[in-house]
Amino acid sequence: MTESVNELREVRVMHHIILIGFMGCGKTTIGKALSAYYQWEIIDTDKLIEDMQKQSVSEIFAEHGEEFFRRLETEVLEKLDKELNKPCIIATGGGLPLCEENRRLLKKMGDVVYLNVDAGIVYQRLKNDTTRPLLATSDPQLKINEMLAKRMPVYEQTASFIIDTNNKTITEINKEISGKINSIKFETT
Ligand code: S3P
Repeated sequence: MTESVNELREVRVMHHIILIGFMGCGKTTIGKALSAYYQWEIIDTDKLIEDMQKQSVSEIFAEHGEEFFRRLETEVLEKLDKELNKPCIIATGGGLPLCEENRRLLKKMGDVVYLNVDAGIVYQRLKNDTTRPLLATSDPQLKINEMLAKRMPVYEQTASFIIDTNNKTITEINKEISGKINSIKFETT
């Protein structure tokens, strides 16, 4: 396995592994597991935006609004596309693929993995969360259902492949993703 992972690095330099999906689908957690497996750095677009703005995502939404945040997402993605000089694991904000230009960049930058998760699981994970401004409504369960239904086709059309994360452990998901990534390598060489 180590040998094929190293070959993969050599052959597909600059081909990142990019995680997309709804809030609470596990992009950060799974990203960390993949980062340990491949020994690639993990980059989180929300974190980069927060560092750049010196504000939390919630503060950015409150002070400047969602559109401003969406522009920062594109800015950050363009910067990563230009500046990353080694393959990385990239965890994206849940709304980042909504913009067409971002979808184009994601597809160009690497293998895009859509982590599919049920709305009920998202609600259970995030019902006490205070860091997602879009879920700060009187009925977060309804908001999750509506947003997820609307976004699902967008995630699906952006993805190189889809991973169903429901009722799976991090280890199982990590194995499934790396198995697919490694098999793509063999298909393309
Ligand atoms: C958002 C998802 C969040 C963050 C922001 C907006 C969205 O990231 O970018 O609150 O529109 O789905 P996570 O998916 O990491 O929670």
